[in-house]
Amino acid sequence: RTDATTDYYEITQKAAELDILPGARTTAWTYGGTFPGPTIVSKSGRRTVVRHTNELPRPVVVHLHGGHTPHDADGYPGDEILPAGGKPTMVMGGHPMPGKPVMGRRDYAYPMNQRAATLWYHDHRMGFTGASVWRGLAGFHLVHDDEEERLPLPRGDRDLPLMIADRSFDADGSFLYPSIDRTLEHMPGVHATHMNGVLGDVILVNGVPWPVHRVERLRYRLRLLNASNARNYRIALDPPPPGGKGMVQIGSDGGLLAAPIAHEGLDVAPAERFDVVVDFARYRPGTRVRLVNLLGSGRTREIMAFDVASSGRTPRDDSAVPARLSRVRVLDPAKAAVRRTFVLQQKSGRWRINGHEYEPGRPLARPKLGRLELWRFVTDFHHPIHLHLDAFQVVSRNGHGLGPSDHGWKDTMDLRPAEAAEVAVRFTDYAGNFVFHCHNLEHEDMAMMADFATE
Ligand code: C2O
Ligand code: CU
Ligand code: CU
Repeated sequence: RTDATTDYYEITQKAAELDILPGARTTAWTYGGTFPGPTIVSKSGRRTVVRHTNELPRPVVVHLHGGHTPHDADGYPGDEILPAGGKPTMVMGGHPMPGKPVMGRRDYAYPMNQRAATLWYHDHRMGFTGASVWRGLAGFHLVHDDEEERLPLPRGDRDLPLMIADRSFDADGSFLYPSIDRTLEHMPGVHATHMNGVLGDVILVNGVPWPVHRVERLRYRLRLLNASNARNYRIALDPPPPGGKGMVQIGSDGGLLAAPIAHEGLDVAPAERFDVVVDFARYRPGTRVRLVNLLGSGRTREIMAFDVASSGRTPRDDSAVPARLSRVRVLDPAKAAVRRTFVLQQKSGRWRINGHEYEPGRPLARPKLGRLELWRFVTDFHHPIHLHLDAFQVVSRNGHGLGPSDHGWKDTMDLRPAEAAEVAVRFTDYAGNFVFHCHNLEHEDMAMMADFATE
């Protein structure tokens, strides 16, 4: 449904039986009966309202990752949609999560005053995000705008959102999430045995194990999303096209780059998005081009494959990657009014930020809206750090310039062991309580999260 100012969507969260593996049925937790959930499409500047109805047996929370969203639509972990007769999630000490739980359903109103970008939505329930996303609660939300639509980029069935996620399966075909304590229904219960996060041995792309996609000898836009709980990927084309640099990055988490960047491969941490154009005309007819994960081994090295059409006739390509894509205002770190440091580390077997496990309602920072800040993250391990509310720009890693995955507007960046990284961020528009956290979902569930309150 749609009216003069708003597009409306309705999604029912429910258990569904899916055909994922040959000869088995997978009971999934789904948005509307599919995995991934339905792709929501917004036009920049037009409000999108998504009504979520919860028919799952557990509380849920919906977060629009990359959304520039007021607090009440952000999916703050305590703002649960409870199932009929359900109780809010408890946190340590036996208190309910602070927030505004509602019964049965919630309307999320997104203003969509933001650039064209590849967003995604997923569950954000405190202590159970890893388990819920693993069981299927994730979907794409694409934003378009006029600037992007004027560019001659590949579109239609040559614009492919690819949700890459590793999973494991039980003998009966159901998703095997090994890390939840099944005796605890209302308390966060990730086992410390999965301190580094949960990895799967099957790679799904849009819910299909190792798919093969037939392509013409034309340019394709691949919107790569790492929706895995904890797995890092180094994504490359195998074989690379003659001359190499087959992945031409045009966008990052927060939309188009100023200019394209050609890569041999890309490091993609959980929740990061990379928008790349691959020109299959650089391959000979009939080539099988594999998308591989150079950090995986055996079958986790394979992601998917593209079969290049074998007909000798090359269709005319009406797409192009312009040398200038967008105007991206570069934030000047020298103008930052406030500097903050956050130390992400493990202490006494718990994941912490500045020594704290997540204390909902007790913000670690109170940024003023409209003011430029420099946030410095220091860590001893891989942590994909994610900020809600606004995208940021990476300023430096270990005192050096940007890494290959750091260009453009980001909302998630991978911090690596023994690294200090600085990002410039300016929060705008919405006062309220938001979270930032590690997007290794088991780390997040083990409370590597903090509030910040904009004012
Ligand atoms: Cu994609 Cu707070 O998460
Ligand atoms: Cu987010
Ligand atoms: Cu982490």
